[in-house]
Parts: sequence; C-alpha cells; structure tokens
Amino acid sequence: MNIILLGAPGAGKGTQAKMLEDKFGLVQLSTGDMLRAAVAAGTEVGKVAKDLMEAGELVPDEVVVGIISDRVDEEDCKGGFILDGFPRNTAQAEALDAMLEEKGLSLQHVIEMKVNPDILVERITGRFSCGDCGAGYHDIYKPVSKEGTCDECGSTNLNRRKDDNEETVRSRLEVYSNETEPLLPYYQGKGILRQVDGMASMDAVAEELNAILSA
Ligand code: AP5
Repeated sequence: MNIILLGAPGAGKGTQAKMLEDKFGLVQLSTGDMLRAAVAAGTEVGKVAKDLMEAGELVPDEVVVGIISDRVDEEDCKGGFILDGFPRNTAQAEALDAMLEEKGLSLQHVIEMKVNPDILVERITGRFSCGDCGAGYHDIYKPVSKEGTCDECGSTNLNRRKDDNEETVRSRLEVYSNETEPLLPYYQGKGILRQVDGMASMDAVAEELNAILSA
C-alpha cells in the first residue's frame, strides 16, 4: 500500500506517519527530513535547499522528484510507503504519477489532514525533537516528562527547527495555500482523496487513519 499524507505545515503529517509505519509496516518518506539531512551533511542538494527552506520556500521540483524516485527504489519501500511532504505542487504530482507508472506502482489513498490555520502557528512554534533518536515533542501537546531530556532515549540533545519561527511559518502557510491546496481537486478527480479531522487528538486522528487504511 502506497499513500500520501497531505496537509498544511503542522497538520500532523510527520506525527501520524511515524505511527502508521509501526502499525502497517510502511516506510515514511519525508522530503523535509531528507532535505534537512542533506543540509546538515553539506551535500550539493543541501546547498541548493538551505536558504530556500529557511525562507519557507519550495526547493526546486527536479531536486525533490529525484530524491523520491531514488528512495522508492530501495528495498525497504517494497512493502509500501507513506509520502509526507511530497508532492507539494501540480508539477510534482504529475511527475509522481509518471514515476509510479514507470516503476509499476500505484497510490491507494491520498489523505488530507484538515486543520484550522489558526492553530498551526502554535503547533509549529511549540515543536521540538530529539537530535539523537528523532522523537518528536510539543511544549503543550506532547511535553517531555523530565525537562530537557528525551523520554525515548534519555538524550539532552533536544532541538527546534530553524524554519519553525512565526515569520517563516506564515510564508510556509501561504506557499501551502497557493501551491499545494490545488492538489486536493487533482486527487479528488482520481477518486482516491480521503479526509481526516487533524484538529482531533493525536490518538483520535490515528484511529481515523487506521479505519481508512484497514478498510
Ligand atoms: P517539511 O519538513 O515537509 O515541513 P512541513 O510540510 O511544513 O510540515 P511540518 O513538518 O512542519 O508539519 P507536520 O504536518 O509534519 O506536523 P507535525 O506532525 O510535526 O518541509 C520543510 C521545508 O522543506 C519546506 O518548507 C520546503 O522548503 C522543503 N520541502 C519539503 N518537501 C518539499 C517538496 N516536496 N518540494 C519542495 N520543497 C520541499 O506536528 C506539528 C506539531 O504539532 C508537533 O509538535 C506535534 O507534536 C503537534 N501535533 C501533531 N498532531 C497533533 C494533534 N492532533 N493535536 C495536537 N498537537 C499535534
């Protein structure tokens, strides 16, 4: 099973993708995570992406399409994958269609996580994660049990993303509404678009997703 999680920055795509990985044996393919790794490693892709990401702009289509095409070919994706943060515009969606057809693959569901834009700034500016094991947290919605320490691995290396400040979040939301929202009618037309209430609690959203994927 191959699926796309669609939703504005902070809608909960990454949070839910991690839960779905465990439950359904799928692999999360987050272009944001891959690009951040490229920036941290100082690769050519990272050099192209760095300033654009910090400004909340999209990285060029050919860069992300190439990354996803290579990643989907890896062995661990054979059991299915969750696209998180890709595609982000119509050109990427069309490139994905062509890529999947060429590889003999298809999409089973595109799931929109619907959220009220007002809550997104609070969700994103309160987010932090463990730099060692990757566990995600939130100041209000998912705090660590012991101040400054990761619940999962005990590390004190807790970080906030550079693009998680209010000004950049507002640019990212604008990019979402101009570039990514037009994908909703695109996938509606293909009959594979589903919706979940991303405003519900993390567990309630997970239940809705489980119901769709188990049907
Ligand atoms: P990316 O990393 O994809 O960021 P994003 O789309 O902005 O999404 P986020 O990771 O911010 O949000 P999320 O929906 O995963 O929310 P999360 O689960 O963390 O992209 C970053 C940048 O990379 C882009 O701006 C662009 O520059 C570049 N890029 C990436 N892909 C690209 C592409 N395809 N093309 C071109 N450029 C690309 O949740 C947020 C917080 O809320 C967390 O703290 C969480 O704990 C909390 N939370 C989650 N769910 C709930 C809930 N139900 N209730 C309460 N709190 C919740």
